Amino acid sequence: MSERVKFATKLGVIATTVGSAVGLGNIWRFPYEAGMNGGGAFLLIYILCVLILGIPVMCAEFVIGRRSKSDTVDAFRKLAPGSRWHYIGYIGVLASVLILGYYMVISGWTLEYLFRALCNDLTGKTAAEFKAEQNAFIQSDFRPLLWIFLFLIINYLILAKGVQKGIEKMSNILMPLLFVILIVFCIRSLTLPKAGEGLSFFFHPDFSKITPQVIVRAMGQAFFSLSLGMGVLITYSSYFSTKTHLIKTAGTVALLDTTVSVLSGVIIFPAVFSYGLDPVAGPDLVFVTLPNVFNQMPVSALWSSLFFLLLTVAALTSTVSLFEVAIAFFINHMHVSRKKATWTMILIIAILSTICSLSIGAWEHIRLFGKTIFDACDYFSAIILLPLGGLLISIFIGWVLKRNISREELTNRDKLHEPLFNAIFFSIKYIAPVIIIFIFLSGFGII
Ligand code: PFF
Repeated sequence: MSERVKFATKLGVIATTVGSAVGLGNIWRFPYEAGMNGGGAFLLIYILCVLILGIPVMCAEFVIGRRSKSDTVDAFRKLAPGSRWHYIGYIGVLASVLILGYYMVISGWTLEYLFRALCNDLTGKTAAEFKAEQNAFIQSDFRPLLWIFLFLIINYLILAKGVQKGIEKMSNILMPLLFVILIVFCIRSLTLPKAGEGLSFFFHPDFSKITPQVIVRAMGQAFFSLSLGMGVLITYSSYFSTKTHLIKTAGTVALLDTTVSVLSGVIIFPAVFSYGLDPVAGPDLVFVTLPNVFNQMPVSALWSSLFFLLLTVAALTSTVSLFEVAIAFFINHMHVSRKKATWTMILIIAILSTICSLSIGAWEHIRLFGKTIFDACDYFSAIILLPLGGLLISIFIGWVLKRNISREELTNRDKLHEPLFNAIFFSIKYIAPVIIIFIFLSGFGII
């Protein structure tokens, strides 16, 4: 058997994994979820979810991936032969397809806005005009599809080049760029006149808004943002070398990802307050409220171009990781070349994201469980499948796989002095499963 490809450098390991984690989830989804669900209180619960559930489940995925060096289905087959645990891998492939279906649509919007910003078409408009234009754009049949297909082609070009020359190289360049742009925006936002009000809205905890449903949403957001529960990190860690320090990597990724989410709030809310806009605008926050904010700043085209470039970069490094789950699976199971596997996935996602995009406009009347197809893909994957995957993965590591294997992986066969091992293993075995089940049961009104 040929040796499995590996990420070439330490930077590559962090850049690709953080690249998967940091995405629309941080910059588009997190601020509006926090804005609508209690500001600082949501942030607090979110951070607890990352610490108590996120880091242990991430370590669990790393153990599975690096030990098995396989795609997400075969990983379980290798570690638990003859059992049914590999169904978790199928849940992962399904979740990656569902997420890509609607994630691509929003990625397409970011390209549209980047294009319009570069053409200086986001200036000189009123708030009502921004809103009307956004509605007309997302509900139209063809224009969003054009951008989706362009985004898919960019994904293809990177993915077809392979793990090292495509994914790793792209992440090494784009992730530092993303952090630089973020910092520039932070400075700009914090020097606005009403920055303090925005910050206190974002950080002030309103515990009266916290309900069991909000806790379910915070947990879903943590899994979504950290790319957990569906095999992305199993697949990526199968490309880690034996020297990679798994616990340290999980801590670094969680820290950087959470930092980007918090910074996004720090960028968005001071701006929203300084220009007298609505901080609880929901999903429109980034596509309607922010262009409106930039519009009122000097050199607005520059700010909006930079911002939508940031969003596009974040989206791209995440979609590539979502694709990689299914591509690695196809290569292994259908015995096809990387190019063919990539094409097949691109076609499947082109169809699904077309359906998702149309479900916002012409096909809005089609409902699944009372939701549009777009919303159903989001809800079903982020709120249900990912935490469910995380639950099963932690049960697998805590109760099925021999503890010794986790120990070997998390301490690099005892080469590392790892005082945290016992605590992490305890969290994987007891704390994560109990809390995920409890949050599910209370969120859905069962207890
Ligand atoms: N973590 C990405 C984000 O925050 O945008 C989205 C994502 C990527 C979710 C990969 C799940 C995943 F497996």
